Amino acid sequence: MTVIELRPPDAETLAGFIDLRRAVHHHDWPDRVEPNWEVERRRVLYPSPGEVELVEVLFEDGRVIAATTVGLTTEDNLHHANCDLLVHPDFRRRGHGTRLLLRLVEKVRAQGRTQMTLWAPEAIEGGAWRSPAARAFLEKHGFTLALPVMFQTASVESMDPQTEEDLYLSAVNASGDYELISWTGSTPEEFLAPLAELDSMSLTQTPLGELELEDEKVDANRRRANEAVMAKHGLDVCRTIAVHRQSRELVANTVFVVYPEPSVHAYQGITIVTPRHRGHKLGMAVKIANVRQLRQKFPHVSIMCTENARANVHMNAINQQFGYSPTECVNEYLLKVN
Ligand SMILES: CC(C)(COP(=O)(O)OP(=O)(O)OC[C@H]1O[C@@H](n2cnc3c(N)ncnc32)[C@H](O)[C@@H]1OP(=O)(O)O)[C@@H](O)C(=O)NCCC(=O)NCCS
Repeated sequence: MTVIELRPPDAETLAGFIDLRRAVHHHDWPDRVEPNWEVERRRVLYPSPGEVELVEVLFEDGRVIAATTVGLTTEDNLHHANCDLLVHPDFRRRGHGTRLLLRLVEKVRAQGRTQMTLWAPEAIEGGAWRSPAARAFLEKHGFTLALPVMFQTASVESMDPQTEEDLYLSAVNASGDYELISWTGSTPEEFLAPLAELDSMSLTQTPLGELELEDEKVDANRRRANEAVMAKHGLDVCRTIAVHRQSRELVANTVFVVYPEPSVHAYQGITIVTPRHRGHKLGMAVKIANVRQLRQKFPHVSIMCTENARANVHMNAINQQFGYSPTECVNEYLLKVN
């Protein structure tokens, strides 16, 4: 048994790591939307700007049977580490998870970080079965539930067309002082800096439970570099913003990250309206405009998925109108390292 750090571009170890993730996916949550494995491979090869991911794999008889990842941000949240831990289904309850977790904690500490998160799935009523292993494992090792998160999916066609049109017209009427602008791919130059500013206030506008996190520090350069890396990953972006007509201020944003074929899904990222401009149905207006753009420009996409804090009642109410329904919880667990 050996543990090594995956150093891209070590293609063989990287393939072993992706095979491990695939095996865990098919064993533990076969009903879940299948990740695009080529995108996942490229994500390891090409890190996003302002982020570092350290991957460690455990080999037995020449095969990758367990792994950990540590995600570190380098511009903000320097106290935090976002981690993952996977053990191949055929090699569980042999102490591998515990062995790798102890190394992980040391690694997080060595990076000067003082809190780390790992996640655990939880079945919801009427949803598919989920193993209690991760939760039991994390609680045994002193982690506490910090943020209950719901994973939700919807068909792109799940809203009845007449209801959608009525909601859209009512939202557009209520937001007459604002212009909706949609695009795919790179952000037009004029919106780069304002969008970076909006990104820099987004994280703490959503419920974070017991997680102590600060806003990200994003500027126009990081935003542009991030888009270039997403293109390298094979991902596309489908975005709608709202601009206040009089001041030209960018006040709302919603985005889908679109996976390439053979995937059939798009991931709904942040939807945000700045506090001063709430109450004009802008959240609904940008979301409907963006779903319409998604259908038109990405006909291979049939499923939208998203994750929301269980406590995010306003967003969950809007999502329900789009036909989203929770399929499971993907809860965040926290350990203070010092
Ligand atoms: C969670 C996971 C990493 C545990 O790996 P593992 O190698 O089986 O863990 P260990 O053998 O070190 O188990 C340590 C303890 O965790 C608890 N535990 C692990 N699996 C459990 C299960 N199925 N039911 C109840 N408790 C469990 C037990 O207390 C166990 O100690 P014991 O075997 O002496 O009773 C593994 O099940 C896994 O990869 N699951 C899928 C991926 C996942 O959910 N990852 C989320 C991040 S934690």
